[in-house]
Amino acid sequence: MKSPVRKMFDEIANRYDFLNHALSGCQDILWRRSCCRELRKMTPGKRLLDLCGGTGDFAVTYEKFNGKPEVAVLGDFSYGMLKGAKGKKMTAVPVQLDAMKMPFADATFDVVLNGFGMRNLPDTDAGLRESARVLRDGGYLQVLEFFSPRNAFNKFFYKRLAPLFIPVLGAFFSKRDAYEYLVNSIIRFLPVKDFVALAEQNNFELVHVKPCFFGVAYRVLLRKAPQGNSAEGSA
Ligand SMILES: C[S@@+](CC[C@H](N)C(=O)[O-])C[C@H]1O[C@@H](n2cnc3c(N)ncnc32)[C@H](O)[C@@H]1O
Repeated sequence: MKSPVRKMFDEIANRYDFLNHALSGCQDILWRRSCCRELRKMTPGKRLLDLCGGTGDFAVTYEKFNGKPEVAVLGDFSYGMLKGAKGKKMTAVPVQLDAMKMPFADATFDVVLNGFGMRNLPDTDAGLRESARVLRDGGYLQVLEFFSPRNAFNKFFYKRLAPLFIPVLGAFFSKRDAYEYLVNSIIRFLPVKDFVALAEQNNFELVHVKPCFFGVAYRVLLRKAPQGNSAEGSA
């Protein structure tokens, strides 16, 4: 049976890109670019998974900054969102999959991107573990996400301002429920510090955390530690 989250993304897919850019004042485009530029410095390798990739904007941007990958997958459980990638210039092949249980062997990828997907997974801990499994040792997980607000500006933005205008714009251009869910899912999600701690328990090492637009979003770059060298395992 379709999960409610999957059903919701299927329903909003045709207006997803437009509203993403409109609600963020096109900042989302700049944030994805920064993520991909950072990865270029790491020379991470040639096998890419854009996980929870939706309509493929992250995979498209990655290719612009890092060249054509040898293997590239756009993975998402919403068929509607994957359909939205049609016609975009990218090597990535769309694959309908569940990020919690992927149809790939261990260490298949050099880079996993996750743009605004982590917050939607039913279990962040298990989601991180599954991402670590499909990455090779030393491979990178680049997460771009809205985390639970902690500073005064973000608390005001997400708890007071955002509930006033995001669902209204959502109702006008798409579905109100989905954009109410967006705001609530951000408030309910982990703060970035706790997310990093959870990643470290799942065999990742932190490369850096960078705030985007005063911490409205964060870029969290993680590297998969060699087996047995996780934060927990090392003395
Ligand atoms: C907010 S969208 C982000 C899309 C894209 N990465 C971007 O940067 O705009 C979140 C995506 O995660 C997908 N998603 C949520 N839970 C998932 C899961 N368990 N497995 C696969 N995809 C999932 C949704 O279908 C949706 O396309």
